[in-house]
This record gives sequence, C-alpha cells and structure tokens, in this order.
Amino acid sequence: MWDRLYTNGHVASMDPNNSTAFGAIHDAALGIKDGRIIWIGKGADLLDKPDALAHMVTDLDGAWITPGLIDCHTHLVFGGNRVREFDLRLNGASYEDIAKAGGGIAATVKATRAATEDDLFDSALARLDQMRAQGLTSIEVKSGYGLDRDTELKMLRVAGKLANARPITVRRSFLGAHAVPPDGPMDANAYIDWLCTHMVPDIARQGLADAVDGFCETIGFTPEQIDRLFKTAKAHGLAVKLHAEQLSNQQGAALAARHGALSADHLEYLDQTGVAAMAKAGTVAVLLPGAFYALRETKLPPVDDLRRHKVPIAIASDCNPGSAPLLSPLLALNMACTLFRLTPYEALAGMTIHAARALGLQADTGMLRVGMAADLAIWAISEPAELCYWIGGNPLMSSLHHGKESIA
Ligand code: NIG
Ligand code: FE
Repeated sequence: MWDRLYTNGHVASMDPNNSTAFGAIHDAALGIKDGRIIWIGKGADLLDKPDALAHMVTDLDGAWITPGLIDCHTHLVFGGNRVREFDLRLNGASYEDIAKAGGGIAATVKATRAATEDDLFDSALARLDQMRAQGLTSIEVKSGYGLDRDTELKMLRVAGKLANARPITVRRSFLGAHAVPPDGPMDANAYIDWLCTHMVPDIARQGLADAVDGFCETIGFTPEQIDRLFKTAKAHGLAVKLHAEQLSNQQGAALAARHGALSADHLEYLDQTGVAAMAKAGTVAVLLPGAFYALRETKLPPVDDLRRHKVPIAIASDCNPGSAPLLSPLLALNMACTLFRLTPYEALAGMTIHAARALGLQADTGMLRVGMAADLAIWAISEPAELCYWIGGNPLMSSLHHGKESIA
C-alpha cells in the first residue's frame, strides 16, 4: 500500500521531459510512499480503486500540485532589523552611502553578535514559518553577519537547528566573505587569509556548511580575493557560489563559473563574457527581484542574454534585513515577472527546478517525477500562472516535505 494518494487534481510537474506547459498533467493523481513519489499520471490510468492503493486518499477537487517552492538565496538568520535605514533610503541615501557610514551589513553584524543563539533561532524560525506558509519546502541560509569565529558558527548552527524544528530541507552557505569585519584589526587581504586558514577548514571539518559564498563588489571583496577563498573551499570539498555583479561589474560571475560554482547571484551588471562563462560551466543565474525592488535599482539583469545562452535562471527572495526584507516566495515570483519580464513558467521554474540546481539538490527535489522526494505544494488556483499573478495573496492549501505534512 502507498502512504498517500491525491486524486482529481492537476499537476504542474515542471518536468522538462513533459513537453506541456509547466509539465502539466490534467485530471491527475499522485501517489507517495516512504517520502517519495511512487506514481504520477492521469487519474484514469490508476491501476486500481484509490482506496485499494493507499492508506490515505485525498480528493483535490481540481486543485493544482506543484513542486514545493525552493528559496535558494536567503540571509534568514540575523539580529535586529534595519527599518531605520529604510527611512534613510526613502530620503535619498544609497545602499553604498549607508554602508560607508557604518550602517548596512555592519549594523546587522553588531546586532547579530549581540543576539543569543536562542534569539537568533526564534526570529529566524518566525520568518521561516511565514515562507513555509507559502509552500516553501527547501531553503538556503547564509551566515555572514558575524564576521568573527563565534558568531559565524552560531549562525550556521542556528540554520542547522531550523531543519530539525520544521519539515524543510536547509542548505547552509558560509558567507564569511560578506564584508571586512568592522572595527577589526584585519584589512580585506588579511581577513581572507584568516578565512582560508582557519574558518573554511574548521567549517568543512564540522560539516557546518554545504557551500562557501562571497560578496564580490567594490564594497565587498575583489575577484582575486574571492579566487583564493574559492580555491580553499574546493580543496575542502565545499561547493561555491557568489554574490556577483550586483552594484557594478567586477567579472565575478566569470570567476565563479571558472570555479564551477553552483550559482552566481544578483547579476544586474552581468556582461556577455559573464553570461557565456556561466553557460559553459552550467552555473545557475540566481536573480533577486526583491533586492532590485527594495534598492530601487534601474539596471536590469540581462535576461535575454541568459535565455539565449540557455543559462538556467533561478529566482530567490534574498531575504535579509537590508536590501531585501522579503518574506514571500510568491511575491518574488510576481516581481520576477513584473520587474524582470520573466514568463510565469520561467519564474516558477526559477523557484523549483532551477533553484534545486542552484543548491545541488536537483536529483531529489524541484520537480514532480517518480522516485523524487515528495516535496510538494497544493494550491487553490485555476492554472499555474496564477501563482505569479496575484500580488500579496496566498492560495496555498497544504504542503508536504518528504511526504510529511508541512502545512496542513
Ligand atoms: O544579497 N549583497 C550583499 N548581501 C546582501 C545584503 C546584505 C545586507 O544588506 O544586509 C544581498 O543583497
Ligand atoms: Fe544576498
């Protein structure tokens, strides 16, 4: 017997082997056993009566099943918030102005260092629950607001605890190279040396992160510094990914691609060379419309070039207290369409199949196919594009993570 069977619904499988729009199967059924999808197809093709097939049978009455949403770029764990900077920016200060004046990332570093592990956990969990309520079943969480040993490790531990507290897959990225520690003795070069000799080896040994991330920018680190960091990360068996070309073109995406990075993220200032390098390496382009929106950026990422070179495009919230206080995966989908002109299919692929690839999870999740994890979301919608269309709504009915009810 299967554990569970959904009948009388429609499935947006997002499976590229299925050539219908959204990989759709109308009037579908989907069976689950031991946390995996065991059967998927037309309801009429079920081999037996539903009650004879599964312990639990749910009539979906025309609802849609999609893969559970995947947010592949967040800074979910942090102390305090930066609501006062919101005011400053509304009055004309730029993100860089605020960073140079000691606000920005440095302000969150101060608050995160001061927060207890329990406080960080509680506030991150509250944010996570808001995202799960919109069908999220996997999330990437970065460190990077500690910039010292204790706080970076504290953040990564908190991210790990989230995965034990809720039915969700959490991937962790070590973002020690987010900024040079404020008020510290080290300059950028010395800090990168310290990350390479002390932090990366320790984090790899303790299994506290899956990937190493960095911020390649005039207010972050140079490509040469990121290059050193990535060499160390890979020597310790960690994947790499990069904040690249967000505020200026540093050729960070091409560097990330040379290292076989899982993803390069932001990319508003990405050029042709970078696009071609990413295409060749299979590096996912993670676009972050929430940061574009909140910073009132006007330079658009080169979506047409990415399409032409067949670079997989993922969409993520970038949830963080500064450039993207965004807690809604569905709003990220809407913004990807409205601001970046992605099609609803591209946007949904960006938070499912391509987001899975950006986290190295593509063998397990991000589409609905027999054998893959039963990570899925069930929606009261008439067609999949509705997920991108509403602004601020939430049609989620329920969601499953590895076959277990996440939102009931
Ligand atoms: O992804 N670009 C750098 N990091 C974050 C913002 C961090 C912050 O402002 O606190 C980002 O936009
Ligand atoms: Fe970010």
